[in-house]
Amino acid sequence: MSNTLGSKGKRKPQSLDQPIINQGPPKSKPNPGETATVTHGAPLNELESELNKRELALIEHEIKSLHMKEELERLRPLSGLYRVVKAMARERKLEKILEVITSETQVMLDCDRCSVFVLDQDTGELWTQIAQGLIGNRVITISINSTSIVSDCARSGQIINIEDAYADKRFDPEVDRQTGYRTKSVLCVPMRNRNGQVIGVFQALNKVNRCFTHDDEDWLEGLTAVAANLIEQAQAYAEIERFVDKTLEVLAQTIDKRDPLTAGHSMRVTQYSLLLGGAMRIPEDDVDVLRYSAMMHDFGKIGIPEAILWKPGRLTPEEYLCVQKHARITYDLLSNLPFTHRLKAVPFVASCHHEKVDGSGYYRGLKGNDIPFLARVIAVADVFDALTSVRHYRNRMPIENVTEILQTGRDNHFQAECVDAFYRLPCHRVLTIMESERGQEIPPEVDSFRSITWQRLVELIAGARPKREEDGLKETFERIYNANLPADYKPLD
Ligand SMILES: [Fe+2]
Repeated sequence: MSNTLGSKGKRKPQSLDQPIINQGPPKSKPNPGETATVTHGAPLNELESELNKRELALIEHEIKSLHMKEELERLRPLSGLYRVVKAMARERKLEKILEVITSETQVMLDCDRCSVFVLDQDTGELWTQIAQGLIGNRVITISINSTSIVSDCARSGQIINIEDAYADKRFDPEVDRQTGYRTKSVLCVPMRNRNGQVIGVFQALNKVNRCFTHDDEDWLEGLTAVAANLIEQAQAYAEIERFVDKTLEVLAQTIDKRDPLTAGHSMRVTQYSLLLGGAMRIPEDDVDVLRYSAMMHDFGKIGIPEAILWKPGRLTPEEYLCVQKHARITYDLLSNLPFTHRLKAVPFVASCHHEKVDGSGYYRGLKGNDIPFLARVIAVADVFDALTSVRHYRNRMPIENVTEILQTGRDNHFQAECVDAFYRLPCHRVLTIMESERGQEIPPEVDSFRSITWQRLVELIAGARPKREEDGLKETFERIYNANLPADYKPLD
């Protein structure tokens, strides 16, 4: 501003609030180009008046701009708060909510970094998943009993606003030393739940070019009041999710545990399904439906007599029909569970894992796209695990045979894209799941398969010439896959 006033220069208005005194009524407007030739009093006055008017208009414009800028600056926290609240209302997961809060608050307060510390009531630790500026998924954990600024804020429940962190004895410069950051100003605001208990601390660092103000304290206090509520809800939601997850896992394991030979099948199918679903980029909202459907797909086996389930050798047609009933029983049992709206597809998806895309599957005989996509993913995972695991009537099937079954099943049993996507999976991830069958530590050699896909392993087993970095992989795989097989092992398939 001063620059504008100064640069316009030689002639200044008498006052910004008073009109400039006109030196005389305008007589006639000079033609363009005539101003340079004005030589007498009246036109000079006219010119002066015109210049004054323009200067005044310019100053008024500058003042308006300044007011607008100030107004915008004043509204900046409000618009930030609005965006935070709007985004938080959309998000359900605690981690996402924390991400939104930190990034928007950074803009809102015009500061360099923000962190949200959540207090774990059980351990008495303040931890943060979201700490801007930290590399990777590093979590900072601070004991509430430590002497740090954050802990002091949580214990006292008071706002802490510090101009120079290094001049405060509570500040621990160790984090700065580790991250190469230089902390200057710090603003910590406690987050309280509806009962007034502190559930965390919001920390903002390094206000740009100045210190945090009382206004900043007020804004952050307002924000944390909203955030605390949502964080509490998200924590309660996460607790329910953990409970549901664990309950379903235990239910799935009760099926697996009935038979030591199929132990872990449900969990491995879940892991293969999630790996395959991820590779096929299923929407995030479908991940949990896939997880729980895969976990519970064979739950209906609880209604099948053990004499049939555990029968060594092949089943009679009648016995096979009896086993097939498990898909319907899965649906009937799961339908009685009060799945939330988000998971309401689980009973249907889980019960469709034996459907085939050509319509020859069971128990509904669905065809093509009538079979839920997630069930088509589970179908591949289910068959792959069944074939590569030990069964009552056979040991692990040779990989060549597994490949043949999956390939001939393309577009009749399985959706071809699901089979193809399975073959593109990283080999070491498939082997890690596969080897978890043995209930022991995953062999370290599995790591040497990191650079190849499952497809490439199949090619190497089929006799493809290994590249230099693939040397020995075939032999290593065969050693892992056939480890601990009985010497008299004869596959029945
Ligand atoms: Fe099944």
